[in-house]
Amino acid sequence: MNDGEIVELRRKKQMVEQCLSENDKRPSVSSRELIQVSIVVPTYKEAANLPLLIERIERLRSDRSLNVELLIMDDNSRDGTEEQIARLNLPWVRLIVRKTNRGLSPAVLDGIAAATREVVVVMDADLSHPPEQIPQMLKALEEGAEFVIGSRYVSGGSTGEDWGFLRWLNSKVATWLARPFTRAADPMSGFFAFRRKALESVPYLNPVGYKIGLELLVKCGFTRVVEVPIFFAQRQLGESKLSFKEQLRYIQHLRRLLAFKYPFWSHALQFGLVGGLGVVVNLVVLTVLLWCGVDVNWAVLGAIALSMVSNFALNRRFTFYDARGGSLPRQFVAFIASCSLGAGINYAITLTMLHAVPDLWPQIASLAGIAGGLVFNFAMSRYFVFRA
Ligand code: GDD
Ligand code: MN
Repeated sequence: MNDGEIVELRRKKQMVEQCLSENDKRPSVSSRELIQVSIVVPTYKEAANLPLLIERIERLRSDRSLNVELLIMDDNSRDGTEEQIARLNLPWVRLIVRKTNRGLSPAVLDGIAAATREVVVVMDADLSHPPEQIPQMLKALEEGAEFVIGSRYVSGGSTGEDWGFLRWLNSKVATWLARPFTRAADPMSGFFAFRRKALESVPYLNPVGYKIGLELLVKCGFTRVVEVPIFFAQRQLGESKLSFKEQLRYIQHLRRLLAFKYPFWSHALQFGLVGGLGVVVNLVVLTVLLWCGVDVNWAVLGAIALSMVSNFALNRRFTFYDARGGSLPRQFVAFIASCSLGAGINYAITLTMLHAVPDLWPQIASLAGIAGGLVFNFAMSRYFVFRA
């Protein structure tokens, strides 16, 4: 072989090697099969946990069918989080420092909005949620699930947190209260996965408090929900941010979800509660006025007037919250007018029944009158007085 041939051979060998190493870089599955996933992690003072979390997710990435982007949504913790991420300097990890509209749920929503991949996984930073279950969750999505929950309460799932009876009860009651909205065993979980495009059909999201997963579950109207069992590990570093106040917000969140999913029953239930409270107001005012020596005719009138006003205020503030933008004087006049008409209808029904059925107890006739008046009042309020 002459020198020229040797050079030529070396060049070819180099080309082959280069080609081989390029192939090696390419994933073994075709790029279409690569699952593109954005992992959204809300953080507040989790600097100590982040390197461990990132290390565990890194291991998932080396499983070649996963193409991960990690979005850390930090509420300006100033605990070294920024330095940690800068030090690691990983191209697939993005830190977004939020300075306005703080909170777990808004951070998650911002993260979902910033996500660029087809599938989104949301999880906590404190290593309570095992990243190792993510492939299992993605598999469930591939197999047709719309929403996948990393669940403590399905067979195979468990929790390492040493919960006292009260926290256990608290969690059970919270889950039970979510029953009208979902049959999932662990709808409170902060570990879940879904396709980003599912959000396109959602009118609006406004979670109050912690239960962003429940919010998505209800608002997106997912029906194919799959729960993948997880072991929910006890947080080792840092502190939980779930306060009692956050839990109270859950009641408010439930009220909103009820209004979203069952608007009629939400109105009817609250209208009924306000009406019941109105009866109490009426009796208390009557008693007080009589006690003050007011003439009985005026006392009855005063009690009726005050209970009507309080019913109006409560219905406007709570039951028909959506209509609070409407003109207050118009709503007030319309409400008082329809209540008065309702009272007339009550009276008419009661008397008609008494005349039609001679032996009927007046109390029964009166109850029928009350029911008729109530239905009339409710219909007027819902479709006329407080129409949104
Ligand atoms: N950006 C941001 N802003 N992140 C927050 C905030 C906040 O205001 N508050 C908490 N986080 C982050 C935490 O840093 C953590 O990564 C995650 O949200 C969960 O917070 P924890 O404080 O660990 O909550 P938890 O363990 O009590 O509650 C978890 O379990 C519940 C079920 O028991 C969460 O996953 C809840 O969503 C879940 O309902
Ligand atoms: Mn936690």
